[in-house]
Amino acid sequence: MQIGIASDHGGFELKEELKLYLKSMGHEPIDLGTFNEESVDYPDYGILVAEKISKGDLKKGILICGTGIGMSITANKFRGVRAALVNDLFSARFCREHTDANILVIGGRIVGKEVAREIVRIWLETPFTGERHQRRLEKIEALEKKNFKF
Ligand code: RB5
Repeated sequence: MQIGIASDHGGFELKEELKLYLKSMGHEPIDLGTFNEESVDYPDYGILVAEKISKGDLKKGILICGTGIGMSITANKFRGVRAALVNDLFSARFCREHTDANILVIGGRIVGKEVAREIVRIWLETPFTGERHQRRLEKIEALEKKNFKF
């Protein structure tokens, strides 16, 4: 599967590591930057992956910044994006089963490489449960369509 991946400088090292891991699993990481450790602004890179998911050009994406917080806030502005900030294995499973997360966000300064790899594996291998969880996602979708302006 093609998987979009991007980071800021705080997530660069882990991004490089996870690209290798994705390839070893037979996936094709689509690297949208950043390409070195120079300081950059995380929204500039979060947008690139979130846009592709929102348009349907890619089905799944991975974003990494220092904490994962900025990237998840950015990605969740996009319609159809369900970005889950996951720094533990339990959340990796349930962000798929219950919330069908299509973007995985990891804090590069929070989790080590081995835990991050395991998070990615679980997130990729766990299917969405559907049923009552589908109804809940439909409520989120309805919210997106309202396009609130206060
Ligand atoms: C960059 O220093 C840092 O703010 C960023 O990587 C991220 O943690 C933001 O949420």
